[in-house]
Formats: sequence, C-alpha cells, structure tokens
Amino acid sequence: MSKVTVVGAGNVGATCANVLAINEVADQVVLLDVKNGFSEGKALDITQTATLLDFDTTVTGCTNDYAQTAGSDVVVITSGIPRKPGMTREELIGVNAGIVKKVTENILKYSPNAILVIVSNPMDTMTYLTLKTAGLPKNKVIGMGGALDSSRFKCYLSKALNAPANEIEGLVIGGHGDTTMIPLTRFATYKGRPVTDLLDKAVLDKVVADTMVGGATLTGLLGTSAWYAPGAAAAYLVESIMRDQKKIIPCCVSLEGEYGQNDICIGVPVIVGRNGVEQIVDYKLNDVEMAFFEKSVAAVRATNNVLKETNII
Ligand code: LAC
Repeated sequence: MSKVTVVGAGNVGATCANVLAINEVADQVVLLDVKNGFSEGKALDITQTATLLDFDTTVTGCTNDYAQTAGSDVVVITSGIPRKPGMTREELIGVNAGIVKKVTENILKYSPNAILVIVSNPMDTMTYLTLKTAGLPKNKVIGMGGALDSSRFKCYLSKALNAPANEIEGLVIGGHGDTTMIPLTRFATYKGRPVTDLLDKAVLDKVVADTMVGGATLTGLLGTSAWYAPGAAAAYLVESIMRDQKKIIPCCVSLEGEYGQNDICIGVPVIVGRNGVEQIVDYKLNDVEMAFFEKSVAAVRATNNVLKETNII
C-alpha cells in the first residue's frame, strides 16, 4: 500500500493532496494540519469528488495526529505561514523555521524511511534546515521551488510565443526567491528550437522578469501566496518519486561539489526517482550563467546564516 502524507492542509497542501488523488499517485493520501477539523474537512471534500473524477485514492485528514501518517513513502511539508503582499519569502524564516523543524521531527518518528519534499518558505533555507536537522541522507530531502519556477517560466514563454506550454522546455535554477532564481533562456526551446532564436531580447527579458516575480505577482493579486501551481509542482515531484519516472526536474537539493558548491541546498536540475535525488545533472553553465548562480548561492547562504545566528541549527 503506497502512502503519501501532506503536512499543512492550507491552500498549497490541499491542492497538492487533490492533484495526488486525482492522478492516483498513491493508494493513500493523508492530510495533517494543526487546526482542529481542517484537514478532515479538506480530505472529505476531496473524497466526495472521487466518483466525479474517477479516482480510487483514499484521502484522510487528521488534526496533529502523526500516528496516522505512519509508514509514508513520501511526505510533503507545506507548514508555516504564507507571505502577504509586499513580503519576501525570506521574511518568513523566523516563524517557519521552528514549525518546519518540529514537523520533520514528528514525521520521522512514524515514517523514518520517508523522502521529504519541502515546500515551506523560504524554501531553500527550509530544505537546508531539514537536511541539517533530520539526519536523513541527502537524496531524501528535496525542495520544490525549481519545479514551480520552471512551470511559470514555460507559462510565460508560451504566452510570448503564442504556443502551447506543453511544446516548450525550460528550466529555472538557483534560489526560489524573487531575485535569486535563474531562468535558463539558453536551454529553453519550443519544439527543439531555441527560444533565443524565436523571441527578441526585450521580449525574452520580460519573460525572465515575469518568471522571477511570478509568485509575488500572484501574492499581489490574491492577497496571499499562490496555491494551484505550487501544489501541483509539489505533486509533480511526488509523482516522479512514487512512479520512479526519473524525470529531470529543477529542484532544491544538497550540493557536495556539484556546480562548484558545498554546504548549501539550492535549485539545480535533478533526476528524480524512487530514491528521491537519483542524480544531479551538470548542464555546463557558461560564465554568465555561473556568475548568476554564484550570486544566487551567496543570497541563499546569507538566509541560511540566519538559522545559525538564531541557534536553530
Ligand atoms: C510561490 C510561493 C508558494 O512562489 O513560494 O508562489
């Protein structure tokens, strides 16, 4: 019996559980939340769509009862507060670090073999925190940011090209921050043709800029953080793990020498399969891309240092 737990039944967590159920990624999906009755309600609502959408996945909710998450293959952690308009993801660190650390401890008591997918913001630093405190091997801790940012990049490319998004390839690496993410235009293609041959520089620059503030744009429109794309991006990662799809997905993982870095979790292209991180893929960045990557690393490191300064790790 395959089992995925989603911690946090807010908008992102519930959307992730919903996508996992609709796609029957696991036999059982458990939603856990601290708010009394909340995850039970979301789970029941999703369950009531089973005959409409034709899925057999069981979805259950539980209020802070980690025993019900026991034996999960993958656990998605979305806990914490979302950002409000005008806030950066980094500003959430004080509140969210304590929450994510506690959640991880509780999860691993009941699912010591689980692969953890981190969604909580600031995502790169929450992934690093989890790697440092959970005692898990590096293949079992994956941050979701790059999957989301890449889907936003492809969305904006599809609008600029007036082409279907599913005909487009594109990757975003680096940190999951408004100024730290790096849409790799040189590797982006429309049906094999480089987008750099198809779009003017000014248009491509706008695509890059829109991608980087993709989350902030939605926070401005919605008054809180986005959820459909973040939830679906987390589910996409979980599916590649559960079905051993070995997709190349940009996501936040621990680097030990790859891309010239150590002691950091940041977005790079990763082959994601049943072991979690199967392999980090070296895309051979040019000097300009590498300079952006190093700048992004420095910014993520500065946020990680807050964990040390505040004695969280
Ligand atoms: C976003 C948040 C979830 O990018 O980080 O929408």
